[in-house]
Amino acid sequence: MIPIKTIDRLHPTAEAFGKVILLGEHSVVYGHPAIAAGLPQGLRLTAEPLPDSAAPIELEIPAWGIDLALRPGEVHPVAMSALAVLSACKGPRSGWRVRGESSLPARAGLGSSAALTVALARLVLGPDAPVDAVIEASMVGERIFHGQPSGLDSAVAARGGVLRFVRGEPTQEIALTAPIPLLIFPSGVARSTAVEVGKVRARRERLPSIIDPVLGALGAAVESGIDAILRNDLEGLGEIMNVSHELLSALDVSAPALDHIVERARAHGAPGAKLTGAGGGGCAIALPPADPAPLLAASRAAGIHPLQVEVWR
Ligand code: MEV
Repeated sequence: MIPIKTIDRLHPTAEAFGKVILLGEHSVVYGHPAIAAGLPQGLRLTAEPLPDSAAPIELEIPAWGIDLALRPGEVHPVAMSALAVLSACKGPRSGWRVRGESSLPARAGLGSSAALTVALARLVLGPDAPVDAVIEASMVGERIFHGQPSGLDSAVAARGGVLRFVRGEPTQEIALTAPIPLLIFPSGVARSTAVEVGKVRARRERLPSIIDPVLGALGAAVESGIDAILRNDLEGLGEIMNVSHELLSALDVSAPALDHIVERARAHGAPGAKLTGAGGGGCAIALPPADPAPLLAASRAAGIHPLQVEVWR
């Protein structure tokens, strides 16, 4: 899938989606389905050649605080991951400046690492590259960031839309009949996907007879959630999101900051609210109440600045 011949130039621009997981994080690692949606404000990279073709690649994404020279042997995870993707695509390893723009926060559960690895793969492979080749190259970088990711984030970053994803199976687009409005609340609490995935693995090893049914229930919530989405039943979807948050708490991947956001959203009439992504910090999401203004004001007063999005095909 990935080219076997070396490619010595980058395309001028490349894009990737951010992602928001509606249902099924963590259980997706164990083969259960998940639903996730692409966020169009993900990442846009532009590339230009440096005067010295032997100089290290410069990677600068001001919105994410990234300003790195990609020297071989570099131990910064972003540099290691970026070089691994370029290498997997047989792309250049020197002589380029790459600059990125994003309106999403980084390391917040909104798919910034997958957006970076997908966009880098597209800089080498081009805008018309088969999506599976782009995902395959992105996964090389994602494994450096996150250990053994399910592949959900790379699939959404490359494809966009609203997807039903099962590890190792073809991804399915969910044919929405109307956009789903969402509020995304960045908690401001840093977290690590690898740490949260490791916590679930350790709890499952200690308590398999308890944790396996919880993972199964999270997977069942996805199938019921898809039914609710196809009926455009946002009240029903909201109840399933609420149950999913409690199940994720049973996996020990929530955090006080996320629980506060979820409680505030429900208290202001949100039909459903839950953590999204790996948890431990990062973001929570809610279906907006009929009048979202009081929730938005209360959130801002608490120092949380929500993003208002609609997920759609
Ligand atoms: C992270 O965005 C989603 C997790 O399910 C991990 C994965 O799918 O690899 C927590």
